Amino acid sequence: MNQQIIFFYQYNVINNWFNLALLSKKEYVVLWKERIMADEQILNKISAGDYTEGSKHYSAQEFTELVEARRSCRVYMDEPVPESIIDKCLDLALLAPNSSNLQPWKFYWVKNPEKRTKLNKYCLDQPAATTAPEIIVAIACPENWRETRTLMLQKFKEQDKLKVPKAAYAYYDKLVPLVYSQGPLGIFGLIKRVYVWVQGLFKPMPRKPLSISHMKTWAHKSTALACENLMLAFRAYGYDTCPMEGLDEKRVKRLLELKSSEEVCMAISVGKRASNGIYGPRIRFDRDIFVKKI
Ligand SMILES: Cc1cc2nc3c(=O)[nH]c(=O)nc-3n(C[C@H](O)[C@H](O)[C@H](O)COP(=O)(O)O)c2cc1C
Repeated sequence: MNQQIIFFYQYNVINNWFNLALLSKKEYVVLWKERIMADEQILNKISAGDYTEGSKHYSAQEFTELVEARRSCRVYMDEPVPESIIDKCLDLALLAPNSSNLQPWKFYWVKNPEKRTKLNKYCLDQPAATTAPEIIVAIACPENWRETRTLMLQKFKEQDKLKVPKAAYAYYDKLVPLVYSQGPLGIFGLIKRVYVWVQGLFKPMPRKPLSISHMKTWAHKSTALACENLMLAFRAYGYDTCPMEGLDEKRVKRLLELKSSEEVCMAISVGKRASNGIYGPRIRFDRDIFVKKI
């Protein structure tokens, strides 16, 4: 039984269930070895290489001021945001750290006036939406790793082959499909869960993502980081933002013609704050509630 589970688990390696049925015994052995290599070595070997990048000194004071100056703005002035600034801020959002560099996000800048009117309504006509010159909707994409891992392999091929460690190829070629495929109705995730549970009795194992729901969380984490980049970038350019999850996700998904697997992470309104745009002084609770030193 355990052997069958392991074989099922291996199926995810190449992400093509039909081709696997045609594999020879020898090919199975190769795959098995690669899988062990994936688990044991890839993550440790991936840093190998001679690339270096210096780090500049930035003003911590200015960064602190920027973070402190970002507030959620609920009322905006009737003043447009230059398109070039929106583009720059979106570029900065895309520089956010993200899981496996698979960039599981999309950003819909809703410019079409009819769509925008509908979006305001779907954001429940909250003033943070209706008074905003612009709204960008951030989408978490749990399934776009299939495309982005291929893009990554293409990028590797474009580079000098010697400079990309073999382990990095193996990571996107073999390990990524293994880790992120959950199979139809999450059935392979379930099989992986059993496998990971057994292996986890003996050694530390990554416990996620092992289900479709884990994949959603996976995509939302990275997308939310990009959202913070986006909001800080706007602040740096002198504009304000409001993240909004008070919206009708079903209708927004239909408006943006999203795939069923894609989810709205948040909508972010942008503009110049009106004098009454910030509803009150910032409130945060005692840091001891949240920060634990152990
Ligand atoms: C995921 C998320 C969803 C939010 N949704 C809304 C919203 O729908 N409407 C709104 O007015 N503010 C929304 N906010 C803003 C929060 O209320 C705000 O960040 C919080 O009160 C702290 O205030 P500050 O951002 O000025 O520090 C949201 C914030 C986050 C992070």
